[in-house]
Amino acid sequence: MKPKSLLTQMIFPEVLEFLREHTDYEIGAEGRDLTKSELIEKIRDKEGILCLLMDEIDRSVIDAAPRLKIIANLAVGYDNVDVSYAREKGIFVTNTPGVLTETTADLTWALILAVARRIPEADRFLREGKFKRWSLDLFLGREVSGKRLGIVGMGRIGKAVALRAKAFAMEIVYNDLKRMSPEEEKKFKASYLPLDELLSTSDVITIHTPLNRETYHLIDAQKIALMKKDAILVNAARGAIIDEKALAQALEEKRIWGAGLDVYENEPEVNPKLLSLDNVVLLPHLGSATRETRLKMAMMAAKNLIQGLSGKTPDNLVS
Ligand code: GLV
Repeated sequence: MKPKSLLTQMIFPEVLEFLREHTDYEIGAEGRDLTKSELIEKIRDKEGILCLLMDEIDRSVIDAAPRLKIIANLAVGYDNVDVSYAREKGIFVTNTPGVLTETTADLTWALILAVARRIPEADRFLREGKFKRWSLDLFLGREVSGKRLGIVGMGRIGKAVALRAKAFAMEIVYNDLKRMSPEEEKKFKASYLPLDELLSTSDVITIHTPLNRETYHLIDAQKIALMKKDAILVNAARGAIIDEKALAQALEEKRIWGAGLDVYENEPEVNPKLLSLDNVVLLPHLGSATRETRLKMAMMAAKNLIQGLSGKTPDNLVS
Protein backbone atom coordinates (compact mmCIF):
# COMPACT_ATOMS: atom_id res chain seq x y z
CA MET A 1 0.00 0.00 0.00
CA LYS A 2 1.23 3.47 -0.86
CA PRO A 3 1.65 5.99 1.98
CA LYS A 4 -1.12 8.55 2.29
CA SER A 5 -0.46 12.23 1.78
CA LEU A 6 -2.36 15.49 1.60
CA LEU A 7 -1.83 18.04 -1.15
CA THR A 8 -3.53 21.09 0.25
CA GLN A 9 -4.21 22.40 -3.28
CA MET A 10 -4.53 21.11 -6.80
CA ILE A 11 -1.13 21.22 -8.52
CA PHE A 12 0.17 20.74 -12.06
CA PRO A 13 -0.89 17.49 -13.84
CA GLU A 14 2.75 16.54 -14.56
CA VAL A 15 3.47 16.66 -10.84
CA LEU A 16 0.35 14.70 -9.95
CA GLU A 17 1.45 12.03 -12.41
CA PHE A 18 4.79 11.69 -10.64
CA LEU A 19 3.15 11.65 -7.21
CA ARG A 20 0.59 9.03 -8.21
CA GLU A 21 3.34 6.42 -8.57
CA HIS A 22 4.52 6.89 -5.02
CA THR A 23 1.71 8.08 -2.79
CA ASP A 24 -2.00 7.80 -2.31
CA TYR A 25 -2.77 11.51 -2.22
CA GLU A 26 -5.84 13.53 -1.39
CA ILE A 27 -6.29 17.02 -2.82
CA GLY A 28 -7.52 19.31 -0.06
CA ALA A 29 -9.17 22.10 -2.02
CA GLU A 30 -9.29 23.77 -5.38
CA GLY A 31 -9.63 27.50 -5.93
CA ARG A 32 -9.85 28.32 -2.24
CA ASP A 33 -7.74 27.84 0.88
CA LEU A 34 -8.44 25.06 3.36
CA THR A 35 -9.76 26.28 6.69
CA LYS A 36 -7.77 25.33 9.76
CA SER A 37 -10.40 22.82 10.84
CA GLU A 38 -10.49 21.21 7.38
CA LEU A 39 -6.70 21.01 7.41
CA ILE A 40 -6.76 19.34 10.82
CA GLU A 41 -9.45 16.90 9.71
CA LYS A 42 -7.73 15.98 6.45
CA ILE A 43 -4.21 15.54 7.83
CA ARG A 44 -5.19 13.07 10.60
CA ASP A 45 -4.38 9.86 8.70
CA LYS A 46 -1.61 11.25 6.49
CA GLU A 47 2.14 10.58 6.55
CA GLY A 48 3.03 13.56 4.42
CA ILE A 49 1.71 16.96 3.43
CA LEU A 50 2.58 19.10 0.43
CA CYS A 51 1.46 22.58 1.44
CA LEU A 52 1.61 26.15 0.18
CA LEU A 53 2.60 29.36 1.84
CA MET A 54 -0.93 30.28 2.93
CA ASP A 55 -1.37 26.98 4.79
CA GLU A 56 -0.47 27.61 8.41
CA ILE A 57 1.13 24.41 9.68
CA ASP A 58 1.21 25.17 13.38
CA ARG A 59 1.20 22.96 16.50
CA SER A 60 -2.50 22.23 16.22
CA VAL A 61 -2.07 20.83 12.71
CA ILE A 62 1.10 18.90 13.58
CA ASP A 63 -0.53 17.47 16.72
CA ALA A 64 -3.52 16.30 14.68
CA ALA A 65 -1.27 14.08 12.53
CA PRO A 66 0.41 11.38 14.61
CA ARG A 67 1.75 9.57 11.52
CA LEU A 68 3.22 12.66 9.85
CA LYS A 69 6.80 12.27 8.54
CA ILE A 70 7.23 15.16 6.13
CA ILE A 71 5.96 18.70 5.59
CA ALA A 72 6.96 19.67 2.04
CA ASN A 73 6.36 23.40 1.64
CA LEU A 74 5.96 24.57 -1.93
CA ALA A 75 7.82 27.85 -1.39
CA VAL A 76 11.30 28.96 -0.49
CA GLY A 77 9.97 30.81 2.59
CA TYR A 78 8.69 28.59 5.40
CA ASP A 79 7.46 31.04 8.00
CA ASN A 80 4.03 29.37 7.68
CA VAL A 81 5.42 26.21 9.30
CA ASP A 82 6.31 25.76 12.97
CA VAL A 83 9.68 24.27 12.05
CA SER A 84 11.05 23.88 15.56
CA TYR A 85 7.95 22.00 16.73
CA ALA A 86 8.06 19.76 13.66
CA ARG A 87 11.72 19.06 14.32
CA GLU A 88 10.94 18.24 17.95
CA LYS A 89 8.43 15.69 16.67
CA GLY A 90 10.95 14.19 14.23
CA ILE A 91 9.09 15.50 11.17
CA PHE A 92 11.06 16.69 8.14
CA VAL A 93 10.33 20.19 6.83
CA THR A 94 11.45 21.09 3.31
CA ASN A 95 11.29 24.13 1.03
CA THR A 96 12.04 24.88 -2.65
CA PRO A 97 15.24 26.94 -2.78
CA GLY A 98 17.20 27.93 -5.86
CA VAL A 99 14.67 27.34 -8.61
CA LEU A 100 12.87 30.65 -8.04
CA THR A 101 15.89 32.86 -7.46
CA GLU A 102 16.14 34.42 -10.92
CA THR A 103 12.38 34.78 -11.35
CA THR A 104 12.00 36.58 -8.03
CA ALA A 105 14.97 38.83 -8.76
CA ASP A 106 13.36 39.72 -12.11
CA LEU A 107 10.12 40.64 -10.40
CA THR A 108 12.00 42.74 -7.85
CA TRP A 109 13.49 44.69 -10.73
CA ALA A 110 10.10 45.02 -12.38
CA LEU A 111 8.85 46.62 -9.15
CA ILE A 112 11.87 48.91 -8.81
CA LEU A 113 11.40 50.24 -12.34
CA ALA A 114 7.62 50.39 -12.09
CA VAL A 115 7.87 52.61 -9.00
CA ALA A 116 10.77 54.71 -10.26
CA ARG A 117 9.10 55.38 -13.64
CA ARG A 118 5.51 55.42 -12.33
CA ILE A 119 4.44 52.83 -14.88
CA PRO A 120 1.10 51.62 -13.41
CA GLU A 121 0.06 55.19 -12.64
CA ALA A 122 0.85 56.31 -16.19
CA ASP A 123 -0.92 53.26 -17.63
CA ARG A 124 -4.07 54.15 -15.67
CA PHE A 125 -3.82 57.74 -16.89
CA LEU A 126 -3.71 56.66 -20.51
CA ARG A 127 -6.57 54.16 -20.19
CA GLU A 128 -8.68 56.88 -18.62
CA GLY A 129 -8.32 58.85 -21.87
CA LYS A 130 -6.16 61.54 -20.28
CA PHE A 131 -3.20 61.35 -22.71
CA LYS A 132 -3.96 64.44 -24.79
CA ARG A 133 -0.47 65.63 -25.62
CA TRP A 134 3.19 64.91 -24.96
CA SER A 135 4.60 67.28 -22.41
CA LEU A 136 7.99 67.87 -20.90
CA ASP A 137 6.94 67.16 -17.36
CA LEU A 138 4.46 64.33 -17.84
CA PHE A 139 4.96 61.63 -15.18
CA LEU A 140 8.48 62.55 -14.25
CA GLY A 141 10.08 59.65 -12.44
CA ARG A 142 13.30 58.87 -10.65
CA GLU A 143 16.54 57.86 -12.26
CA VAL A 144 17.92 54.54 -11.04
CA SER A 145 21.08 54.32 -13.13
CA GLY A 146 24.14 55.26 -11.15
CA LYS A 147 22.22 55.45 -7.88
CA ARG A 148 22.80 53.51 -4.67
CA LEU A 149 20.96 50.23 -4.22
CA GLY A 150 20.61 48.94 -0.65
CA ILE A 151 19.95 45.21 -0.39
CA VAL A 152 18.66 44.01 2.97
CA GLY A 153 19.31 40.26 3.04
CA MET A 154 22.11 39.13 0.75
CA GLY A 155 21.06 35.53 0.22
CA ARG A 156 20.41 33.85 -3.12
CA ILE A 157 17.73 36.34 -4.23
CA GLY A 158 19.54 39.40 -2.87
CA LYS A 159 22.62 38.39 -4.86
CA ALA A 160 20.61 37.83 -8.06
CA VAL A 161 19.15 41.34 -7.62
CA ALA A 162 22.69 42.69 -7.18
CA LEU A 163 23.88 41.06 -10.42
CA ARG A 164 21.07 42.76 -12.32
CA ALA A 165 21.94 46.10 -10.69
CA LYS A 166 25.35 46.03 -12.37
CA ALA A 167 23.58 46.59 -15.70
CA PHE A 168 22.22 49.83 -14.21
CA ALA A 169 25.68 50.87 -13.03
CA MET A 170 24.36 51.11 -9.50
CA GLU A 171 26.48 51.30 -6.40
CA ILE A 172 25.51 48.29 -4.30
CA VAL A 173 25.46 48.21 -0.52
CA TYR A 174 24.04 45.38 1.54
CA ASN A 175 23.18 44.33 5.04
CA ASP A 176 22.91 40.77 6.29
CA LEU A 177 23.52 38.89 9.53
CA LYS A 178 26.56 37.44 7.82
CA ARG A 179 29.08 39.43 5.83
CA MET A 180 30.16 38.01 2.52
CA SER A 181 33.80 37.07 2.00
CA PRO A 182 35.98 39.78 0.40
CA GLU A 183 35.97 37.68 -2.81
CA GLU A 184 32.17 37.60 -2.89
CA GLU A 185 31.92 41.30 -2.10
CA LYS A 186 34.17 41.87 -5.08
CA LYS A 187 32.15 39.54 -7.32
CA PHE A 188 28.89 41.34 -6.50
CA LYS A 189 30.59 44.75 -6.27
CA ALA A 190 28.75 45.14 -2.97
CA SER A 191 29.89 46.80 0.24
CA TYR A 192 28.57 45.92 3.66
CA LEU A 193 26.82 48.64 5.65
CA PRO A 194 25.08 48.63 9.04
CA LEU A 195 21.31 48.63 8.50
CA ASP A 196 20.66 52.22 9.60
CA GLU A 197 23.40 53.55 7.36
CA LEU A 198 22.11 51.51 4.43
CA LEU A 199 18.59 52.84 4.98
CA SER A 200 19.64 56.45 5.33
CA THR A 201 21.90 56.55 2.27
CA SER A 202 20.29 54.28 -0.35
CA ASP A 203 18.16 55.52 -3.24
CA VAL A 204 16.52 52.14 -3.72
CA ILE A 205 16.08 49.72 -0.83
CA THR A 206 15.02 46.15 -1.46
CA ILE A 207 14.19 43.52 1.13
CA HIS A 208 15.28 39.89 0.73
CA THR A 209 15.44 38.44 4.25
CA PRO A 210 13.37 35.53 5.47
CA LEU A 211 10.57 36.36 7.91
CA ASN A 212 11.36 35.22 11.43
CA ARG A 213 11.36 36.62 14.97
CA GLU A 214 14.37 38.82 14.21
CA THR A 215 13.01 40.28 10.98
CA TYR A 216 9.36 40.83 11.99
CA HIS A 217 8.77 44.59 11.50
CA LEU A 218 12.48 45.07 10.82
CA ILE A 219 11.38 48.08 8.78
CA ASP A 220 9.17 50.01 11.19
CA ALA A 221 8.24 53.69 11.45
CA GLN A 222 11.63 54.56 12.93
CA LYS A 223 13.53 52.83 10.14
CA ILE A 224 11.33 54.41 7.47
CA ALA A 225 12.06 57.79 9.03
CA LEU A 226 15.75 57.22 8.31
CA MET A 227 15.16 56.86 4.56
CA LYS A 228 15.85 59.61 2.04
CA LYS A 229 12.89 61.69 0.96
CA ASP A 230 13.18 60.30 -2.56
CA ALA A 231 13.91 56.68 -1.58
CA ILE A 232 12.16 53.75 -3.18
CA LEU A 233 11.37 50.74 -0.98
CA VAL A 234 10.63 47.34 -2.50
CA ASN A 235 9.50 44.17 -0.76
CA ALA A 236 9.14 40.86 -2.57
CA ALA A 237 10.09 38.79 0.49
CA ARG A 238 7.43 38.61 3.22
CA GLY A 239 4.94 41.32 4.16
CA ALA A 240 5.46 41.31 7.90
CA ILE A 241 9.12 42.32 7.56
CA ILE A 242 7.70 45.83 7.05
CA ASP A 243 5.22 47.49 9.40
CA GLU A 244 2.59 47.94 6.66
CA LYS A 245 0.60 50.55 8.58
CA ALA A 246 3.69 52.67 9.18
CA LEU A 247 4.65 52.38 5.51
CA ALA A 248 1.17 53.38 4.34
CA GLN A 249 1.34 56.43 6.61
CA ALA A 250 4.78 57.41 5.30
CA LEU A 251 3.65 57.01 1.69
CA GLU A 252 0.54 59.07 2.31
CA GLU A 253 2.67 61.83 3.79
CA LYS A 254 5.12 61.45 0.87
CA ARG A 255 8.00 60.92 3.27
CA ILE A 256 9.61 58.64 0.68
CA TRP A 257 9.25 58.63 -3.12
CA GLY A 258 7.40 55.36 -3.37
CA ALA A 259 7.18 51.66 -2.70
CA GLY A 260 6.71 48.45 -4.63
CA LEU A 261 5.08 45.61 -2.75
CA ASP A 262 4.51 42.02 -3.76
CA VAL A 263 3.73 40.80 -0.23
CA TYR A 264 1.57 41.97 2.68
CA GLU A 265 1.32 41.49 6.41
CA ASN A 266 -2.06 39.75 6.31
CA GLU A 267 -2.33 38.34 2.82
CA PRO A 268 -4.57 38.50 0.90
CA GLU A 269 -5.65 41.62 2.80
CA VAL A 270 -3.92 44.85 1.89
CA ASN A 271 -3.93 47.94 4.06
CA PRO A 272 -6.79 50.04 2.57
CA LYS A 273 -4.71 53.21 2.69
CA LEU A 274 -2.20 51.65 0.28
CA LEU A 275 -4.98 50.92 -2.20
CA SER A 276 -5.77 54.61 -2.48
CA LEU A 277 -2.20 55.81 -3.08
CA ASP A 278 -0.51 56.38 -6.42
CA ASN A 279 3.04 56.21 -5.07
CA VAL A 280 2.88 52.50 -4.36
CA VAL A 281 2.79 49.63 -6.85
CA LEU A 282 0.93 46.60 -5.55
CA LEU A 283 1.20 43.05 -6.85
CA PRO A 284 -0.63 39.93 -5.62
CA HIS A 285 2.44 37.93 -4.45
CA LEU A 286 3.83 37.05 -7.88
CA GLY A 287 7.57 36.79 -7.10
CA SER A 288 8.04 33.30 -8.51
CA ALA A 289 5.03 33.34 -10.82
CA THR A 290 6.21 32.06 -14.16
CA ARG A 291 4.96 28.71 -15.40
CA GLU A 292 8.50 27.34 -15.68
CA THR A 293 9.45 28.29 -12.16
CA ARG A 294 6.21 27.26 -10.48
CA LEU A 295 6.45 23.87 -12.18
CA LYS A 296 10.02 23.43 -10.95
CA MET A 297 8.96 24.42 -7.44
CA ALA A 298 6.05 21.98 -7.46
CA MET A 299 8.24 19.13 -8.72
CA MET A 300 10.88 19.89 -6.13
CA ALA A 301 8.28 19.89 -3.34
CA ALA A 302 6.84 16.62 -4.68
CA LYS A 303 10.28 14.97 -4.68
CA ASN A 304 10.90 16.17 -1.16
CA LEU A 305 7.55 14.72 -0.14
CA ILE A 306 8.33 11.31 -1.62
CA GLN A 307 11.80 11.22 -0.09
CA GLY A 308 10.35 12.07 3.32
CA LEU A 309 7.58 9.49 3.00
CA SER A 310 10.17 6.81 2.33
CA GLY A 311 12.10 7.81 5.43
CA LYS A 312 15.03 9.27 3.47
CA THR A 313 16.39 12.67 4.47
CA PRO A 314 14.93 14.92 1.77
CA ASP A 315 17.20 17.06 -0.41
CA ASN A 316 15.81 20.39 0.70
CA LEU A 317 15.56 20.03 4.43
CA VAL A 318 15.33 23.49 6.01
CA SER A 319 18.11 24.23 8.44
C1 GLV B 1 7.21 32.66 -2.24
O1 GLV B 1 6.90 33.64 -1.65
C2 GLV B 1 8.12 31.69 -1.73
O2 GLV B 1 8.53 31.79 -0.57
O3 GLV B 1 8.45 30.76 -2.48
